[in-house]
Amino acid sequence: MVDVFTQFKVRYYDSPTAGRLALVTMDNGADHTKPSTFGEQALRSLAAALEEIEGQDVKGLLLTGKPFIFAVGADLDQSKGADEEFARAAAQGGHAAFRRLAALPVPTLAAINGAAMGGGLEIALHCDYRTVSSVAAPIAFPEVFLNILPAWGGTQLTPRLIGVEKALQVIVHNAMNNNVTLHASDAVALGLADRLVDGVEFLDKSVELLERIVTGAETIGRAAPDNDNVDEVVAKARQFADDKVHGATRAPYLAIDLIEFAARGGDLDEGYAKEADALAQLLPSRQAQSAIYSFNLTQQRVRKQPWKPAVQARAINKVAVVGSGLMGAQLGALFLQQFEVPLVMKDIDDAVLARAKEHIDGELDKRVQRRRLAPGKAAFLKSLMTYTTEYEPLAGSDFVIEAVLERMNLKRAIFADVEKVVDEGAVLASNTSSLSLSQMASDLQHPQRVVGFHFFNPVAVLPFLEIVKAGQTDDVTLATAFEASKKLRKSGVLCADTPAFIVNRLLTRFNGAFIEALRHGNSFREIDAAAKELGLPMGPFELLGLVGIKVAFHTAQTLHQAYPDRFPIDETFARLAALDVPGIYDRATGEVYEEVSAILPPAGGEKLTPEQIRSAAVEATVDEAKIMLDEGVVADARDIDTGLLLGAGWPFFMGGICMYADETGLSEKLFGRRLIGDDDKAFSQ
Ligand SMILES: NC(=O)c1ccc[n+]([C@@H]2O[C@H](COP(=O)([O-])OP(=O)(O)OC[C@H]3O[C@@H](n4cnc5c(N)ncnc54)[C@H](O)[C@@H]3O)[C@@H](O)[C@H]2O)c1
Repeated sequence: MVDVFTQFKVRYYDSPTAGRLALVTMDNGADHTKPSTFGEQALRSLAAALEEIEGQDVKGLLLTGKPFIFAVGADLDQSKGADEEFARAAAQGGHAAFRRLAALPVPTLAAINGAAMGGGLEIALHCDYRTVSSVAAPIAFPEVFLNILPAWGGTQLTPRLIGVEKALQVIVHNAMNNNVTLHASDAVALGLADRLVDGVEFLDKSVELLERIVTGAETIGRAAPDNDNVDEVVAKARQFADDKVHGATRAPYLAIDLIEFAARGGDLDEGYAKEADALAQLLPSRQAQSAIYSFNLTQQRVRKQPWKPAVQARAINKVAVVGSGLMGAQLGALFLQQFEVPLVMKDIDDAVLARAKEHIDGELDKRVQRRRLAPGKAAFLKSLMTYTTEYEPLAGSDFVIEAVLERMNLKRAIFADVEKVVDEGAVLASNTSSLSLSQMASDLQHPQRVVGFHFFNPVAVLPFLEIVKAGQTDDVTLATAFEASKKLRKSGVLCADTPAFIVNRLLTRFNGAFIEALRHGNSFREIDAAAKELGLPMGPFELLGLVGIKVAFHTAQTLHQAYPDRFPIDETFARLAALDVPGIYDRATGEVYEEVSAILPPAGGEKLTPEQIRSAAVEATVDEAKIMLDEGVVADARDIDTGLLLGAGWPFFMGGICMYADETGLSEKLFGRRLIGDDDKAFSQ
């Protein structure tokens, strides 16, 4: 692979009104799928470009990017294994290069033509003015999401430009809310950019603006940043960080400190020095290194689909969903919007079908209201739908997914019925959470077309998909499943046909330790708090309210049948599942339901400490992960971590369970080696 690095290419334009202007383009020479980033070589290229421009009689400078991309910040690959010295030098290198741009004695304008993230946004902030193309997106500071912080001036310049509250919003809140990004119009509304310019005329209009600024024909006015409410908003931001990560990573707290320093009028040089100190502390940490690993797994590796067989997939021109309940309705909405092909929803109950229609129509209507979908397109999509209690309308389907009740006999009967109306190459997928696909397929005439396609609830939110290969599944079926997952914009990972697959198996083992703690007399709240100190957004008992106690117990039973030693059926859990309550805590009051408290066992022995609770849960999960790797449930430890990050919402800075165990020394202690090998077995299978 050729090493691509971003070059700062300088051209000159002799403006009839303004004189000579330097037009600088950041371009790594690759297409938009490889966005321009800044590493050491890029910063050297910037210095060389500025050296040249400083020697010319220029009246202004315009900085822009290659098509679709402005610049997306530091090159993360260079940050792998970074030590303190490297991190400090990286921060200082960026400071020096960007401040030289800021120090040019002529007006500078960043023309943000496309994606501007992290260091890309920071270089724009070092220009005097900013235009943004109406089609430029995403715009964001994702650093805190990656457990570092904007350390090329971002924490110091942003509050000076837009005030403390908005700076905290874009640097801390957005990053920690699963990396919310801004559209061009948001950037202007926040004051990060001065002008929104229509995409088609963007560059010409930006040059014209620079000309007018240079000649004095136009001046850009900005409101003074509002930094009056520092105490209040900073306290709120610290509380927000506590709620999200419970102190498990330093990044958001340091980012807040630095923004506060700038907002209180701190000296700029001192602020830059503090940024370098903070990066030196954060970048080498376990949390940041794990986050870089997680970013690579979820943004790059999984998209390469290393598990997909190299055969032609079946084209999908018609889809059917059998079972239109909680999951089926969500699947219908997703398939319709991503595939835009005729789609049949089947159920045995007309009332269920009516609710599914309401849900699917509602999803489309919501997008129309938000102007993300044209009304005519929504009407077209609705016209592709058939709601039925019969099998005949399924004829001609290329991909049928069942989401009926979790019962083997029912699923077998349904696949047998579907097989009568579709052709022999049509794929039959099951959304089962725990049942054996091989068993489900065994009586079919063409069992090789059955594949597991396990989504997570809520389908629109959780991007993970377990693609389960049964004994008989053939390559075309598997390739079709992977193609479908890509089209649905889900992250599909291959998994063997074993009970509860990847995520639910690991979470059941993890939760077993928390349920065990109840027997020691620890309260639900204490246990949830102990778990959250790992950095999880929710405790195990809070999560039960979302997943459903009965659903979770059903998975526990399946795993108990398969592996009784490691998955004992806990009496308390069984009694909880028998209750008719929506969760452990009453959502309205936040208190534990009385019925739930009433079935707690008498406390035996001493209460466990938070540390004991956590380490029992982590050790059990690591043990299960190791067994899954030995059994070949997945090809590589990275597959397990991808599942926990995307299917269970574990934070990037934990890196899933294998990375966590490797980085904390637990793998070494338990198995005498790391779980993640240098060689990624998913690629070399
Ligand atoms: N609920 C979850 O969080 C979740 C998550 C992932 C996977 N799943 C799996 O998805 C599947 C469906 O779960 P759900 O929660 O949507 O259940 P649900 O009870 O909401 O829906 C099941 C639907 O199947 C219908 N049905 C029953 N027999 C049928 C038949 N012969 N033909 C057509 N429809 C029939 C029922 O009328 C019902 O509407 C299960 O296998 C479950 O394990 C559930």
